[in-house]
Amino acid sequence: MTRETWATRVGFILAAVGSAVGLGNVWRFPWMTAENGGSAFLAVYLGVVLLVGVPGLLAEFVIGRRANRNPVGALRDLSGSRAWGAAGGIAVVAATVLLSFYSVVGGWILRYFLESIAGLAGAAPYAAEPGAHFSAISFGPSAVAFHLAFLAITGVVVAAGVRRGIEVATKVMMPAIVVLLVALAAWAGTQEGAAAGFAFLLGFDLGTLRANALDLLLPAAGQALFTLSVGAGTMLVYASYVGEDRSLAVDATTIAALNTAVGVLAGLVVFPLLFALEVDPGAGGPGALFVSLAGAFTALPFGNLVAAAFFGVVLLAALSSSISILEIPVAFLVDEFGISRKRAVAGTGALIAVTGTANALRPALFELVAGPVVDNLLALGLLAFLLFAGWTLGDDAVAELRSGAGPIAAALAVPWRYLIGTLLPVFLAFTLLSALGAGRVVGDWGVVGVAVAAVAVAAAVLSRARTRSAV
Ligand code: PFF
Repeated sequence: MTRETWATRVGFILAAVGSAVGLGNVWRFPWMTAENGGSAFLAVYLGVVLLVGVPGLLAEFVIGRRANRNPVGALRDLSGSRAWGAAGGIAVVAATVLLSFYSVVGGWILRYFLESIAGLAGAAPYAAEPGAHFSAISFGPSAVAFHLAFLAITGVVVAAGVRRGIEVATKVMMPAIVVLLVALAAWAGTQEGAAAGFAFLLGFDLGTLRANALDLLLPAAGQALFTLSVGAGTMLVYASYVGEDRSLAVDATTIAALNTAVGVLAGLVVFPLLFALEVDPGAGGPGALFVSLAGAFTALPFGNLVAAAFFGVVLLAALSSSISILEIPVAFLVDEFGISRKRAVAGTGALIAVTGTANALRPALFELVAGPVVDNLLALGLLAFLLFAGWTLGDDAVAELRSGAGPIAAALAVPWRYLIGTLLPVFLAFTLLSALGAGRVVGDWGVVGVAVAAVAVAAAVLSRARTRSAV
């Protein structure tokens, strides 16, 4: 059986942008920004996207296009080592865990979308008491039902295949998302009091930034990886379906730029509305979007129509991402065990149906998985990809990046290799160790020292192994 490829270049880019643009932009980004003080967080986050996210995205692209395989098979085949294959398994686990909470939030969105449609005929079910409504539906049997429905839609698209399923679906979804968001942002901007929302998001605030840069770094790093879909192997798998040689660097930059633009656009819808209604954006945690926005919509002119459009956009964005997450374990099963795509979808779908049900019933479990567990799994997965591309592939990674690339990317290929082999792994090791609480034991600078030492040892071992296998 020959492996599928994308039908068109645009198809690949839109699918990758579809993966990146998701709940991370519309639900998690405003929530994280609000919780971490607004524009100062935005500044740190943009920095991490550029310096860590894009080079990391490129590492996944380079590995995927070179191997034409899923994360496990790619790392094993390119290195000839089973241990590397197991390291690639981190990504498959990360994806499976990720979808088990993503699908629960997707279920909430599906429900709010349907309720907004119902609201066109009368009052939306959340209209009277948005807060009480969200508490009533967010966890429990109905949350399970909507999680399963969302997962089923995702499964249908993935089962249809790379070209006929993923590519066709994302080619329709992405333009629809952008058009609707622009219209919504224009509408939100006309609401009275919206200006305070713009200031909150865009007013550059150097004071807060100086005072809190380190505190902002961990959540910003987590959010940057999450929003660009790096660390779980999505971008690796999507690049493994790229047939022709073309500039991966241009593609990665385009994807990151479009993703950031959509994130800011979503912020331009959400924050002006919250400020227009004098809702504190920092309050409300993960439910903020549902409670305050649902409340906002019902209080504003044309609210029901706008609500349906808004939740429709979020639903499309969530689906184009969940598709990309499910594709990772599916590609793993199809490549490694030669089973059919439909069976692979049924098998992984059944597993995620069960783990997602646990999340939909247990709020404490959900918050743990949606926050620290996923953040750290993505960081760990990306750490493996970076060390692999930087030291085990080494010169081959440089050659792969150069293939099909223009002069600028070709010139940057060697600096990129050392960035992903040294500074970025140190940064990720630092965030992982800090998340484990190492800072309390040895201090922040102590953690930096441990991270540098660990990466130096890893680099030495890996480059020796490479020289030996080359002989
Ligand atoms: N980037 C997606 C979002 O912002 O919602 C989430 C995501 C998808 C993360 C795929 C990781 C991944 F591999």
